[in-house]
Amino acid sequence: MDARRVELQRTVDALDATLQIARALGGETDLDLILGLVAKRGRALVSARALVIEREQDGAMLIVARAGELPKGLMGQRVDLQDSVAGAALRTLTTQRLEKGPNQARFERHGLGRRGISASAGLVVPLVFRGKGHGALIAIDRLHDGPAFSAGDQRLLEAFAASAATAIATAESMQADLRRQRLAAAEQERARWARELHDETLQNLASLRLGLAAQLRDPRLEAITDAVNETVAQLEREIGSLRALITDLRPAALDDLGAQAAIADLVERARGRGLEVDLAIDLAYEQGRESARHTTELETAIYRTVQEALNNVLKHGAARRAVIEITEDETTLRVTVRDDGQGFDPTLTTDGFGLIGMREWAELVHGTIDIDSSPGRGTTLRALFPGQRRDRPDRLAAQ
Ligand SMILES: Nc1ncnc2c1ncn2[C@@H]1O[C@H](COP(=O)(O)OP(=O)(O)O)[C@@H](O)[C@H]1O
Ligand SMILES: [Mg+2]
Repeated sequence: MDARRVELQRTVDALDATLQIARALGGETDLDLILGLVAKRGRALVSARALVIEREQDGAMLIVARAGELPKGLMGQRVDLQDSVAGAALRTLTTQRLEKGPNQARFERHGLGRRGISASAGLVVPLVFRGKGHGALIAIDRLHDGPAFSAGDQRLLEAFAASAATAIATAESMQADLRRQRLAAAEQERARWARELHDETLQNLASLRLGLAAQLRDPRLEAITDAVNETVAQLEREIGSLRALITDLRPAALDDLGAQAAIADLVERARGRGLEVDLAIDLAYEQGRESARHTTELETAIYRTVQEALNNVLKHGAARRAVIEITEDETTLRVTVRDDGQGFDPTLTTDGFGLIGMREWAELVHGTIDIDSSPGRGTTLRALFPGQRRDRPDRLAAQ
């Protein structure tokens, strides 16, 4: 085959690989699957001995996919962002060659070399989507005519990386959309239950109580007064717990009065259950420093975070006291919930959904949750949320 035909054939291969990714994406929202496919096809495309995908997370590079000859246990490992070759590719948004200049040393000292991978040559191609680096493809050692990759290989892998980056970003945003839909649906369902319980059950109970109380004043009923009295008291307790349940489901205060009022209400109820709670809350809108409320999504995320954290303190903490601090500056909202209880090991998995739900809310609004706890030392939960205001200034109902 002459050089042109080879070149053409490879371009067709590249298109084919790209198409496969696009097709997989059509029916697939599983990010890990997409990443795995990108690794496999990318490796085949340039006949690499191995290919690794790294993505930036919390200031480090995380190994998220792999294909080919590699040591076991790589997935989920971290690599330095600052001094690794992938870090350089991400900063400059240009392909780096492993065999060039200081890259070999970077690879060995700071990059995959530290994870037991050896490379004589390689291409580190940034995954760029909308002008932003989302990670890097690292192709190691060409199997035939290698180990260095040709300029043609580089062009191919770069073209492939461009569509792979789109595929990854799309899968990610689809995942976020799905999460958003699921959380929104659950929240709507809660609101519906809250309304129904309020409009039906609570009102019925309340009128029953009123009716009974009125009958109590009838002298003919003297004989059974005690029984009726007891029933009234029981009804009152039922009404109380139903009210609490309704507020838990979706507090009207959150929509009508905003996060601050709804959280103050949560704290009151926790105090009612015997926990000492210090609440320091300073939200810009509530204090009149901003004219627009945060989005419903963000307000709900803040509320659900505090609610679950407080529930956990009450349920698991065996704590005497909890301290809640909520502050915000121009960009960021900070929520801290600290207790002096028995603590736990946050690295252990549990079958609870509370913390998972909390993290889902945080991810939805691009926030982070950090839990600092160990047995015997209490628990501190820190959440950071980027501020996100509604388009339209909105007045809260009168408090
Ligand atoms: N403040 C806390 N103090 C002690 N343990 C906690 C605290 N918060 C969470 N935990 C532990 O973490 C686990 C997971 O919490 P979560 O996901 O909310 O599930 P659930 O509350 O349904 O058990 C709990 O079962 C508990 O062991
Ligand atoms: Mg819980």
